[in-house]
Amino acid sequence: MAATTADDTVDVLIIGAGPAGLMLACWLSRFNLKTRIVDKRDTKIFTGQADGLQCRSLEILDSFDIGHRVWRESNHMIEICLWNPDGTGRIRRSDRIPDTIVGISRFTQVVLHQGRIERFFLDTIKEGKSSLKVERGVLPTKFDYDESKAGNFNDHPITVTLRTLTEEEATPQQSGAIAAANGTKSGTKVQDGLFRSNLAPDDTDELIKATELNDRAGKTEVIKARFMVGCDGARSWVRQQLGFSLTGDSTDYIWGVLDIIPVTDFPDIRMRCAIHSENQGSVMIIPRENKLVRLYIQLKEVAVGEGGRADRTKITPDVILKSAQNIMAPYKLAYSYCDWWTAYQIGQRVGDKFSLDERVFLAGDAVHTHSPKAGQGMNVSMQDTYNLGWKIALVASGVCDSAILKTYELERKKVAQDLIDFDHRFSRLFSGRPAKDVMDEEGISMEEFKDAFVKGNMFASAIAVDYQDSLIVTRKTSSASQLITKEETGRTIKVGMRMPSFRVLNQSDARPWQLQERLPSDGRWRILLFAGNLTDPLTLSRYNTLGEKLAAPQSFLRRFTPASAKIDSTIEILTIHSAPRREIELSSLPEIFHPYCEENGWDYWKVFADDESYHEGHGRCYENLGLDSGVGAAVIIRPDQYVSWVGEVEDYGGMERFFGGFMVARE
Ligand SMILES: Cc1cc2nc3c(=O)[nH]c(=O)nc-3n(C[C@H](O)[C@H](O)[C@H](O)COP(=O)(O)OP(=O)(O)OC[C@H]3O[C@@H](n4cnc5c(N)ncnc54)[C@H](O)[C@@H]3O)c2cc1C
Ligand SMILES: *[C@@H]1O[C@H](CO)[C@@H](O)[C@H](O)[C@H]1NC(C)=O
Ligand SMILES: *[C@@H]1O[C@H](CO)[C@@H](O)[C@H](O)[C@H]1NC(C)=O
Ligand SMILES: *[C@@H]1O[C@H](CO)[C@@H](O)[C@H](O)[C@H]1NC(C)=O
Ligand SMILES: *[C@@H]1O[C@H](CO)[C@@H](O)[C@H](O)[C@H]1NC(C)=O
Repeated sequence: MAATTADDTVDVLIIGAGPAGLMLACWLSRFNLKTRIVDKRDTKIFTGQADGLQCRSLEILDSFDIGHRVWRESNHMIEICLWNPDGTGRIRRSDRIPDTIVGISRFTQVVLHQGRIERFFLDTIKEGKSSLKVERGVLPTKFDYDESKAGNFNDHPITVTLRTLTEEEATPQQSGAIAAANGTKSGTKVQDGLFRSNLAPDDTDELIKATELNDRAGKTEVIKARFMVGCDGARSWVRQQLGFSLTGDSTDYIWGVLDIIPVTDFPDIRMRCAIHSENQGSVMIIPRENKLVRLYIQLKEVAVGEGGRADRTKITPDVILKSAQNIMAPYKLAYSYCDWWTAYQIGQRVGDKFSLDERVFLAGDAVHTHSPKAGQGMNVSMQDTYNLGWKIALVASGVCDSAILKTYELERKKVAQDLIDFDHRFSRLFSGRPAKDVMDEEGISMEEFKDAFVKGNMFASAIAVDYQDSLIVTRKTSSASQLITKEETGRTIKVGMRMPSFRVLNQSDARPWQLQERLPSDGRWRILLFAGNLTDPLTLSRYNTLGEKLAAPQSFLRRFTPASAKIDSTIEILTIHSAPRREIELSSLPEIFHPYCEENGWDYWKVFADDESYHEGHGRCYENLGLDSGVGAAVIIRPDQYVSWVGEVEDYGGMERFFGGFMVARE
């Protein structure tokens, strides 16, 4: 037994290195905090598992500077085709719709397997400020919580025992099924995902027992943490320790997933398709990178056995393929290469509590599960910790008050519940048999299905996520309704929603940029000053007045920024004016809006113009965002790009009150 030393303390302990855990680690790597992330498995995922990324997920990855890698390697999904039986029962293409709603994001939906995305995360985590690295083959075995320390956020109320596993313990058995059917590679062993699937028995308890007996098991350490986050998947050990549970529908569906290079005469195999057969069930087709295509099928043949778990020996790639062949007949489908396959059983459930005293949190599949067809696993899981990461980091670093941590449950529980509702509706429509005619009440109307698909797309893009009022999202004191002259979901500025992006020009060198590219995830709050037409003397003078107030020694900007740090290190101010770029000189604008420093001179990164570019046209940023270029607005953006507050450009008092609600004054 190793003894605990004073060094064995961390600010944040993350359990689980799936998409949720890695996103969190990514945030925390941007701060000078002591963080550890452990996972019981000894390798990352290499193939298969979750695949798609909605446009909001791409915006987020881009804010960590890995979006371009995903964008380049992934398959872009542009169109969805719906296939349904015609009067004779033969399947026909009935509709085509765009996969991503046009105009809501500068990205479209893409598909790339989880293993690559995890790779990009690992790379960017390595580049961060902290020396964070994923510790694999490490299992937490014991959890203690000292309630008396919960009130003091500098204290370490959490104690966890960590065991390093032996190699055999950390490597799960593959089922070894032979997946290649009727092809050159037949007989090759294929990576299957069953061992990670919940159809396989959970081995956590067994592992804990085994490490107790096994004297070859590596070291044991006891560490103390200020915060802990359970990102340990649907059967979360952390959730069990807290005694929390998931509630919801008790029905489970079984899904088969097959990643193959298809040999087929089906014409839309490179489109995302939903195919409803007359009475053989439905299949979802997802075209992927490297010629691969993923088939999702809800399996009917597999009976759910004792204890509510399906017998997984009955599920083979052939069973999945046969179902697909039946649904897609008379089209032929075969393959000689299978990359990965799995089957998993999933219910639709949400946790009632997302945290214990805002010290231990749950995120991702640990607090919500749903079918793959809502197709949100990786998206929503990553977005949970994208919401949580900066909050923990800013509280742990003493920048913000711990009160902001309560907004995690407030904001993400609603998203999880909406997701379950959406999943219910969508699963029923997806899995049902198509109606024969209007009198067929048991069948599913294909009009209704299409409608759900179109509406569902807005939901599924996550662009429509709209956070409730709180300390950090204030509609009440915002004058958004007067200042934003039109409303269009995802395109205009709306308090509670993410900041949309349009092209603007750098005042100093005329280069066009997407506004969002200037909102990287580095933990800073931002004030976007849509200062209006600065060639107008009145408009210029209110901008100058604001500048004077912000620059004053007692301003909130200085109070919330440590004296030793750069003035833009806690809150960054960006100006986007609407005057012709050539009529404005950067040097004539107040210094606070483009601060000077001895080492690097003037800051050329802070002032932008909504104007015509030489090569890429006019971004029409004001018009698109719903802003009047005569009036403008000040917009406060959270570190995760969500809009907190909207007010008049000269409303220094409003900004001060907003930040005063949760920022900690610094030395
Ligand atoms: C077999 C399978 C197939 C899937 N296929 C699809 C799909 O095709 N499409 C789709 O959209 N979604 C799919 N999903 C769902 C998707 O993968 C999840 O929604 C998503 O990965 C959730 O991310 P997460 O980080 O919350 O959890 P996970 O990805 O489950 O990550 C949890 C991590 O925690 C680790 N862990 C678990 N317990 C412990 C412990 N006690 N101690 C230490 N570490 C622990 C695990 O090893 C794992 O690395 C699939 C899931 C599974 C299991
Ligand atoms: C494989 O080929 C055999 C005969 O060659 C055929 O009976 C069987 O249906 C084929 N299986 C699949 C999955 O195509
Ligand atoms: C993410 O969302 C998109 C859009 O709905 C979906 O197509 C994709 O499958 C989702 N990805 C995962 C891994 O759930
Ligand atoms: C703006 O222009 C300056 C000066 O050319 C350049 O250094 C900087 O990279 C540009 N910044 C952006 C965001 O375009
Ligand atoms: C900006 O203001 C100046 C001075 O009032 C005016 O002449 C000009 O037309 C305005 N430009 C725009 C684009 O509104």
